[in-house]
Amino acid sequence: MSQQQWWRDAVIYQIYPRSWADANGDGMGDLPGITSRLPYLAELGVDAVWLSPFYTSPQNDAGYDVADYRDVDPRFGTLADADALITRAHELRLRVMVDIVPNHSSSEHVWFREALSAEPGSAARARYIFRDGRGPDGGEPPNNWKSTFGGSAWERITEADGSPGQWYLHLFDVTQPDFDWTNSEVGDEMEQTLRFWMDRGADGFRIDVAHSLIKVDGLPDADAQHEMNVQNTSDLPMWDQPGVHDVYRRWRKVTDSYAVEGEDADRIMCGEAWVTPIEAMARYVRPDELHQTFNFAFLMSPWIAPELKANIDASLKAVEPHSATQTWVLSNHDVIRHASRLGFDPVPGPLQMFGIGVGDPQPDAAAGLRRARAATTVMLALPGSSYLYQGEELGLPEATELLDEARQDPVWEKSGHTVRGRDGCRVPMPWEGDAPSYGFGPTASSWLPQPPVYGDLAVDRQAGVEGSTLELYRTLLRLRRELRPGRGQLTWVDLGESALAFDVSTASGASMRVIANVGGEFLPLPNGAEVLVASGEFDAEKGLPTDTSVWLRV
Ligand code: GLC
Repeated sequence: MSQQQWWRDAVIYQIYPRSWADANGDGMGDLPGITSRLPYLAELGVDAVWLSPFYTSPQNDAGYDVADYRDVDPRFGTLADADALITRAHELRLRVMVDIVPNHSSSEHVWFREALSAEPGSAARARYIFRDGRGPDGGEPPNNWKSTFGGSAWERITEADGSPGQWYLHLFDVTQPDFDWTNSEVGDEMEQTLRFWMDRGADGFRIDVAHSLIKVDGLPDADAQHEMNVQNTSDLPMWDQPGVHDVYRRWRKVTDSYAVEGEDADRIMCGEAWVTPIEAMARYVRPDELHQTFNFAFLMSPWIAPELKANIDASLKAVEPHSATQTWVLSNHDVIRHASRLGFDPVPGPLQMFGIGVGDPQPDAAAGLRRARAATTVMLALPGSSYLYQGEELGLPEATELLDEARQDPVWEKSGHTVRGRDGCRVPMPWEGDAPSYGFGPTASSWLPQPPVYGDLAVDRQAGVEGSTLELYRTLLRLRRELRPGRGQLTWVDLGESALAFDVSTASGASMRVIANVGGEFLPLPNGAEVLVASGEFDAEKGLPTDTSVWLRV
């Protein structure tokens, strides 16, 4: 295997296919749209893209409900379009990661349809988690587990003869039945899917809810609700169970079998594992398992210097024993965009990440953007790999005043209209400030309404404009390729309570200093330091103002 291992410091850009670029004008993004816009990403300076699901799906959970893992949904295009996208990306020296959703399929998957029409106890039922109910006539769910989207995690079916039947488990939407991973047919099938996409040229996978596949034997009641902020996720019977690591050991053998001797061509896997504590998350990146797991602890950290520092420190230490690198991220399609999240004091906790609407407290947009730029400037200097979420390079805020009628995330309905859901971070990209749908597509159509501020933040309004967020990202990414702090070693520098400061070694062996002023008074810059990039304006005399970060040559 090559010693280079491109993924160790790669910057990977998440494309949410519904919302990036719409070639056919139906208001929904598509693969030809993505292909046409790829040069923008090459110019931005990222190494790879990760595409959220574009497979055949009824779209009850925006494509995370997959009906056919090896075909493209007609809304997004065809398999030929996927091939063309991968080919074009490779021409532009961009790698392509696709999403794999192994915990559950759509209820429209052929296996689930077969399961419904088959008998209890049949081989077709055994691919999912069907159980008899409790109580008289089996009318109560088999256990007390809750769906992440609200309500029970169990749904009762009607048997083929019309009688009230068994129940099936769905940790997410009712149309997302959980597979039974103790059934070897499930693992074999998923391996075929991995091979299918690697054979078509995919460079890796992002693994959806990577920590959920294995449940405790006997499916016992859970002591607490399975919130994502529990101390030890593995105390709950549906998350982070030891057996899940066997799945990834098997997958690693498969991805490794695609490596080419002497070429930096590893096919990689990045797990979405909302696991605590951080040491438990690090177990997913042992050398014979996944290459990366998103570091959600960093994403959830408040904008407070000592907390950020403790968090980064613990994250780096946690992966050290496994010779792994960290994987940083600040935004994705499930959380409030960081330009808005950081506009709250204090930053909202994990559950409040599920949406903001009219009537809710609104973020301070200016503070949010300033802190987001400062936070990204820190993130892109940290050792390891980083993921960017489409539109963050424009400083896009969350759409926090989306009308509830427009909401499409199942969370809103399933929670009985108590949790607004994730639509606010999924609003289509603005490319041209003056075009219909801000250039998202050739028509005015957009599956979620775009707030007017998106027009002002469109790509064409920022490209070439000094000080714009887009130009900040371009500069950070250019310097990052040159200096390679992602491959460096970090040493903390103490500049007081409201500063986050560290030295990181660069490709030449020299150190670069990174300083973030996190909510403090002006912070003097070291004498004679050369500012390589700054997230905002600074004062040559007084130094770095609040919520601003710099990379310095000292
Ligand atoms: C992951 C996805 C999220 C989806 C869920 C169920 O958390 O990121 O969007 O709703 O899994 O598949």
